[in-house]
Amino acid sequence: MNNDILKVLYSKEEIDNACKSLGNEISKTYAGKTPVVVGVLKGAIFFMTDIVRAVDSYMQIDFIDVSSYHGGTESSGTVELLQDINTNITGRDVLIVEDIVDTGRTLKFLLDTFADRGAKSIKVCTLLDKPAGRKVDVKSDFTGFKVPNEFVVGYGLDYDEKYRNLPYIGVLKPEIYANK
Ligand code: IMP
Ligand code: MG
Repeated sequence: MNNDILKVLYSKEEIDNACKSLGNEISKTYAGKTPVVVGVLKGAIFFMTDIVRAVDSYMQIDFIDVSSYHGGTESSGTVELLQDINTNITGRDVLIVEDIVDTGRTLKFLLDTFADRGAKSIKVCTLLDKPAGRKVDVKSDFTGFKVPNEFVVGYGLDYDEKYRNLPYIGVLKPEIYANK
């Protein structure tokens, strides 16, 4: 699996450091509050577990599963809700935890959905932001790294459901796509 990687963009150490500093920022923001932290499956799973443990605040955690990719490297444009949260978020402070914001469509869908349900506040923490991919105007409140317009894998991010378990974030060799 590691052989398929062209270059490492962010090492495990760099990711750990980003989680620590994001955790500090989030702790300050939610001092005295008990937010509902919602991880977006499956890509944000490792980031979610690392980030919540870097935050010193009471919280509830939940997960939501949405899909807009269907296995390729281009967003399909429509977002499907595959599995909802169980928590009633009406009147609650919600923090969405994402792996990456690319077109912004997934995030827009989540922001609209949680706003419709009457969340008191909604903020976004994403490990990666790919501003060059943006198609709808959404912003992250807490961002780990701004990434170039390349398809990245690892630390939760997949290509065709593979590479999620890489401990770092990297770029695949072009022949991996060509052989598909
Ligand atoms: P958006 O709706 O286009 O912003 O895309 C958000 C979702 O697409 C993310 O949560 C990822 O699951 C997936 N995605 C976007 N860019 C990448 C990438 O470079 N590698 C792997 N998954 C990606
Ligand atoms: Mg995702």
